[in-house]
Amino acid sequence: MPDPPPVFDALPEQYFAGILAAAAEARARPGPPLIDLGRGNPDLPPPAHAIEALRAAAADTSVAVHGYPPFSGLADLRAAIAEHYAREHGIALDPDREVAVVPGTKTAIMLATQAAAGPGDGVLLPDPGYPDYRSGVALAGAREVALPLDPAAGHQPDLDAVPAAARERARLLVLNYPSNPCAVCAAPGTFGAAVDYARAHGMWLLNDLAYGFLAFDGRRAASVLETDGARDVAIELWSPSKIYGMAGWRIGFAVGAAELVGRIRTLVDHTTAGVFAALQHGLIAALRGDQAHVAERREAYRRRRDALVGALRAAGAEIDAPEGTFYAWWRPPEGLDAARLLAEHRVAVAPGEGFGARGAGWVRLSLALPDAEVDEGAERLARAAAGALSAPAGAARSS
Ligand SMILES: Cc1ncc(COP(=O)(O)O)c(C=O)c1O
Repeated sequence: MPDPPPVFDALPEQYFAGILAAAAEARARPGPPLIDLGRGNPDLPPPAHAIEALRAAAADTSVAVHGYPPFSGLADLRAAIAEHYAREHGIALDPDREVAVVPGTKTAIMLATQAAAGPGDGVLLPDPGYPDYRSGVALAGAREVALPLDPAAGHQPDLDAVPAAARERARLLVLNYPSNPCAVCAAPGTFGAAVDYARAHGMWLLNDLAYGFLAFDGRRAASVLETDGARDVAIELWSPSKIYGMAGWRIGFAVGAAELVGRIRTLVDHTTAGVFAALQHGLIAALRGDQAHVAERREAYRRRRDALVGALRAAGAEIDAPEGTFYAWWRPPEGLDAARLLAEHRVAVAPGEGFGARGAGWVRLSLALPDAEVDEGAERLARAAAGALSAPAGAARSS
């Protein structure tokens, strides 16, 4: 048979598939139950009104539900999305030109990258950042350019660190606040600087708002579209996966700059061709329905965050309290890493290097599992950290 085409060489290893495989292997080995803090798969269910709307729609056997859906999404869903942005962000979107319905924002990442960049073009990706952005770059035949997030500056992007030559070739700048994996929100000025930069250097700006609403301690997950001048250079991806606990539904949307959103819609027409209408009815209900569960969800993640941070700090380890998302981004003490945590403490974590070169030495801890498991995981991590901190210098490294 012919060799696979070059895109298969360009595609990185699917990081999360690797993590799942490592956790499954460890689980099969004898020992106490594995605690899997590696995976960001929300354990809190969708709101009942969304499930009911999905169920009721699926029970309608008409072609309007079970036939091919409109490629561009139900007009009512696009209207509900525009209402959501008006309510939450004070932005009036045109549902016909500035909204694209997609089967999950992971797909939107792939389509948006292809919509913005072609072979040889550069794409600025946060480092550390969500690994699947790299898959989008590979599928577009484009080139990844690392955009360093500076830990000393609250993991905000250091745009000045991008070399001029790479900047001139770049067609897309990707941001993700609240950040996976760094668990921080955009600082004041971050979106403004990114919009100015994108405009000045002729590139699109994408903010991935997969963790909108999931900001703690009175913070708010702002939309990039709230920034002056953003509307014609920026798009935002929005996902109900984490915010509404609907990750398995595979639905989301892209909003913002009409030109780029229009290109995404064209790619949808040619590829995924719409989303099952019953899922769209469920999302309409979620967007228009009571939002009280969002605050409850946020509160549950905040409690888990405090338990984790409290346990680690009590053991003498340093960790920044996450500002948002349901992750913590932790630099374990010298001598402790993801492999040791898995083998010796039976805690699976996501190794930081999978998020980019600047993630080396860090691990991402997920809070998306039941309280008791977070507590047990936190206890084991605390024990591991205390052990590493009390080991004589150099002992851990050579062990
Ligand atoms: C930053 C970020 N963007 C996008 C996604 C994908 O979300 P969706 O379920 O909408 O495809 C994730 C999922 O983990 C994520 O962390």
